[in-house]
Amino acid sequence: MKVIIASDHAGLELRRELVSALKELRAEVDDVGPATNASVDYPDFAKQVCRSVAAGDYTFGVLVCGTGIGMSITANKYRGIRAALCTSEFEARMTRAHNDANVLCLGQRVVGGGLARSILEAFLSTPFEGGRHQKRLDKIREAESESGR
Ligand code: RB5
Repeated sequence: MKVIIASDHAGLELRRELVSALKELRAEVDDVGPATNASVDYPDFAKQVCRSVAAGDYTFGVLVCGTGIGMSITANKYRGIRAALCTSEFEARMTRAHNDANVLCLGQRVVGGGLARSILEAFLSTPFEGGRHQKRLDKIREAESESGR
């Protein structure tokens, strides 16, 4: 499993913790920064992750900012990206099973390290159920085309 992860300055500490968790889970991880906690713009980091996931270079992307909201808004602008902002294991399981989410967004100012690790594990280990959910994903694809993405 290949995972690409990024944050902004407000998500840097949680991102580092999640990089460790991903390595413990034996995922192949690409951490694309930022390297310091100097102020940056989260869309610049979301772009790198989402372009790579949409191109099929990674199984999943993980994005962390202060709330996770800015990252999730940005990520869902990219064609082929289904980004989910999760604050519980339940949401992480459901968004994989029903939405086939391919980017997980987390807020460092919202969830602690332990919960974030549990959310990450639930996200990575839950398969998409397919079936009736596939036609809904097809409709998301249609919505992307309609809006010119
Ligand atoms: C940065 O201060 C903060 O606005 C950002 O990390 C994020 O929470 C935006 O949604």
